Amino acid sequence: MKNLNNKKIIIGITGGIASYKVCELIRLLIKTGADVRVILTPNAREFVTETTLSTLTKNQVFCEQFYPAEWKPEHISLADDADLLLIAPASANTIGKIANGICDNLLTSVATAFSKQVILAPAMNCNMWDNPFVQQNIKKLEQHGYQIIMPESGNLACGYEGVGRLADVQVIFDFIIKNFEKKKILSGKKILITAGGTKEPIDPVRYIGNRSSGKMGIAIADAAYEYGADVSLISTVDANKPYFVFKVNTAIEMYESVKKHFCNTDVLIMAAAVADFRPVDFYKNKIKKENKDMLVVELVKNPDILKEMAAIKKSRQIIVGFCAESKNVTGYALKKLDEKNLDFIVANDISLTDSGFNSDFNEIIIINKTKQQHRLARKTKQELGYLILQDIFDIKDCGND
Ligand code: PMT
Repeated sequence: MKNLNNKKIIIGITGGIASYKVCELIRLLIKTGADVRVILTPNAREFVTETTLSTLTKNQVFCEQFYPAEWKPEHISLADDADLLLIAPASANTIGKIANGICDNLLTSVATAFSKQVILAPAMNCNMWDNPFVQQNIKKLEQHGYQIIMPESGNLACGYEGVGRLADVQVIFDFIIKNFEKKKILSGKKILITAGGTKEPIDPVRYIGNRSSGKMGIAIADAAYEYGADVSLISTVDANKPYFVFKVNTAIEMYESVKKHFCNTDVLIMAAAVADFRPVDFYKNKIKKENKDMLVVELVKNPDILKEMAAIKKSRQIIVGFCAESKNVTGYALKKLDEKNLDFIVANDISLTDSGFNSDFNEIIIINKTKQQHRLARKTKQELGYLILQDIFDIKDCGND
């Protein structure tokens, strides 16, 4: 995964000559889509400038612990927002403060308030690195879940030779990428997912369609792939992905494709919005409006893909449907769960604003066969992708490697 889209990373820079190398690291992270915020300690300002860092990150650089205009203390809002905190170079001074709960500047305060992953890449003189108190602090941090990217051996800026040089920028970059990779908890599982709205053609120009963008189904497919599953996506929207994508347009094409791949599948998740009806006739030429006050397009029912797959499924196979409703959402979802003989149904209320159809967000209720409900408040579809899979596979521990 060399894609850090939507990942918010704080880089804390402390006072050390290696801080200039972090500019290149920031460039690599930005290139992979990360949103990078930089915090400078007072000593770091002696080595790198705010102008360089704000130009590279296209974000404000943070140095002061207190900004009078903000109601929420800066160290709390920064810590709440980010997915990862990297401190590079981490000086002996900052390492010592964090290991002992000292919060005397913005970076040490953010580090103390940070509840997600913290990575430190120390850099200092080799004698400082060997100092027993520094080593004790490093051990203490490791014992409490902080990750350390060990310094390298070589010529140091201070003229000494030994261990203390900041790890290579590429090593730090790869470490961060690996940190975001998910545990491959679904490796060996074959998951078939549908996404997008079907298009039922009337003539060469027109079709009956719906507002599904495919985002929800694709987010689940991405999450399944990140979890190591063998993923096949049947989609009405183009998607350039590292897993199999089968492009379809109509409900019948989706039906044929699902039928073809289903027997080989452990789990089928149908997030697509499939048209219930299609025009009986396809007009080979464009329908002209001349001499017509009315046009009747006769429709015929499409196969219910989910229901048909549920009827032929083997006991080891799991079938998950979606349910888009604007009222009595849980009631209709429960009805569909029973009628279609599903293992799970994911209900979304499409009357909510900026949620469901064609939004980056959704708010869902996952209902299992025994009618247990798990309500998930508004989240990005990416986050929900992982959470839906965790429910289906009853995954409790889903932390990163
Ligand atoms: O694509 P997005 O813009 O991200 O939006 C996501 C979504 C709102 C489309 C998605 O979250 C969703 O709710 N998908 C199902 C929408 C829907 O058509 O629901 P339904 O109640 O009509 O169908 C119920 C289930 O039966 C669905 O899993 C559907 O795929 C399936 N179905 C429906 C008709 C049919 N002929 N065959 C089917 O298999």
